Amino acid sequence: MSVIAGDFRPKITVSTIQEKKQRQDPITCLTAYDYASARLLDEAGIDMILVGDSLAMVVLGYETTLPVTVEEMLHHTRAVRRAAHRSLLIADMPYASYHVNEEEAVRNAARFIKEAGAEAIKLEGGEKRAALVQRLRDAEIPVMGHIGLTPQSVLRMGGFKVQGKSLVAIEQLMRDAVALNGAGVFSIVLEGIPREVAAMITAEVSVPTIGIGAGPDCDGQVLVLHDLLGLTFSTAPKFVRQYADLRTAIAAAVRAFKEDVEAGGYPGEDESYHLPREVAQALESVMARKQAR
Ligand code: KIV
Repeated sequence: MSVIAGDFRPKITVSTIQEKKQRQDPITCLTAYDYASARLLDEAGIDMILVGDSLAMVVLGYETTLPVTVEEMLHHTRAVRRAAHRSLLIADMPYASYHVNEEEAVRNAARFIKEAGAEAIKLEGGEKRAALVQRLRDAEIPVMGHIGLTPQSVLRMGGFKVQGKSLVAIEQLMRDAVALNGAGVFSIVLEGIPREVAAMITAEVSVPTIGIGAGPDCDGQVLVLHDLLGLTFSTAPKFVRQYADLRTAIAAAVRAFKEDVEAGGYPGEDESYHLPREVAQALESVMARKQAR
């Protein structure tokens, strides 16, 4: 078991995550997109940090996750890599980076490992991704699956809607989970599905299920960090528990800065640098001589 210098907690690996399911030890996962937040998550002992393609919406301001590119995801994954020492680092494969063909998908996934230091990748889709998951495993790349409300399917689904509400849809979700499990994913995100369905899937598959809007019976939970911190601009989905109100806190801090600068109250004497006394005196003499001329 490897440890990080100065931090005696063991490094989390894909095996650790799988062992946690066996021990019925709840798994924690949060998204991060930059060094500062990833560092806080890592130090807080979050098991897995996901550089989610939710980056597109919560950081880059797009309406959906579809526009974010491989290059943008790599850039943010590298920033998170510099901070994440203990947590398992997972990079989300963005839309169209694994949909064209398997060769391109493996090449793109390998870039996240080689160029950005990710330890696993995540991709959306069930049965239809099973062959690709096997190819990625052949390339030694651990894969996290993602089924249910898959945001990259927003156009086909006609919006961000809870999935798995009919018997037919439940059967399909179960087939998707079993196919991913059989193909060798190390865990499966279950997003936006009824609690009862998530519980059935969790009991059926051998790998951990990580829920988001899928109820409390999953093996772990994931949230988008900006939702948890109250740093978003739209109404949060019902499943989000907001643990802080950073939007209000940041707005108040920015307003206070503006008021201080406009009123001449910032920076103050203590917030300014000063010359050493001898240099200040010499400067005064130089200025006085100049004025006397
Ligand atoms: O992109 C993301 O943040 C995700 C999580 C919501 C699971 O896929």
